[in-house]
Amino acid sequence: MLNLSGKNALVTGIANNYSIAWGIAQQLHAAGANLGVTYLPDEKGRFEAKVGELVAPLNPTLFLPCNVQDDAQVQATFDAVKDKWGHLDILIHCLAFANKDALTGDFSNVSRQDFTQAIDISAYSLVSLSHAAKPLMTEGGSILTLTYLGGVRVIPNYNTMGIAKAALEMNVRYLASELGPQNIRVNGISAGPIRTLASSAVGGIRDMIHHVEEVAPLRRSVTQREVGNAAAFLCSDLASGITGQILYVDAGYEIMGMG
Ligand SMILES: NC(=O)c1ccc[n+]([C@@H]2O[C@H](COP(=O)([O-])OP(=O)(O)OC[C@H]3O[C@@H](n4cnc5c(N)ncnc54)[C@H](O)[C@@H]3O)[C@@H](O)[C@H]2O)c1
Repeated sequence: MLNLSGKNALVTGIANNYSIAWGIAQQLHAAGANLGVTYLPDEKGRFEAKVGELVAPLNPTLFLPCNVQDDAQVQATFDAVKDKWGHLDILIHCLAFANKDALTGDFSNVSRQDFTQAIDISAYSLVSLSHAAKPLMTEGGSILTLTYLGGVRVIPNYNTMGIAKAALEMNVRYLASELGPQNIRVNGISAGPIRTLASSAVGGIRDMIHHVEEVAPLRRSVTQREVGNAAAFLCSDLASGITGQILYVDAGYEIMGMG
């Protein structure tokens, strides 16, 4: 049976009730995990208030600001985990960002600044969070990230984020190799397109979802809840033999050669 009771799980990437991380947090909570939640701090404190209100029913025992571009905030987050929980079992990395200019138009037009920012936030952050989590995963653990098909195929209006996802997927494999001897598993879920704050920056997201509904074997798109269920499985002992993998949760779309 899927049981995460007694497990300490840190969830990044909740912005609102459309966030994939919100779907994951709900399923981890339902499976009995003790939750910690991070949010992206902004000057007006909007995310803090909104995310705090949203996650309150899941009774998180940690609620922390963490901008992954700020090494001090990352360290403070894991210091707080150590102080409060002693050890960490599950880390959910569910965040990404690219400037709109890095997603649209000719790919070769992307500026160095936009390119490196997208890679830094969307791919390097898995490395830095895993590095900080490693000493706290003293009883083994599970690290999970979220990727998309645009990291292995060319998808219109995904551009630089595709490069970031390709890097992210290789991060999964290198981290799995490094951390495996410590019984820390590292995996990714490649989710089908879902309407969220981040995906609204990808031009034509509505058409992409419609296309999936027409072509995918299940003839529909997927939900945050379905991604959350797969995440809970991958973070549980039921998946104890799985590491370094990218699991497609996309209603089967990835297998199709012609739409
Ligand atoms: N929505 C989709 O169709 C889809 C499909 C496959 C994969 N994904 C991936 O799922 C993950 C979550 O995205 P989502 O679609 O739920 O959108 P979302 O907008 O709800 O989540 C993105 C999160 O990234 C956070 N973030 C951005 N910059 C950050 C920073 N510097 N530090 C810390 N956090 C930061 C935002 O605060 C937000 O919570 C992303 O990695 C995304 O690429 C999304």
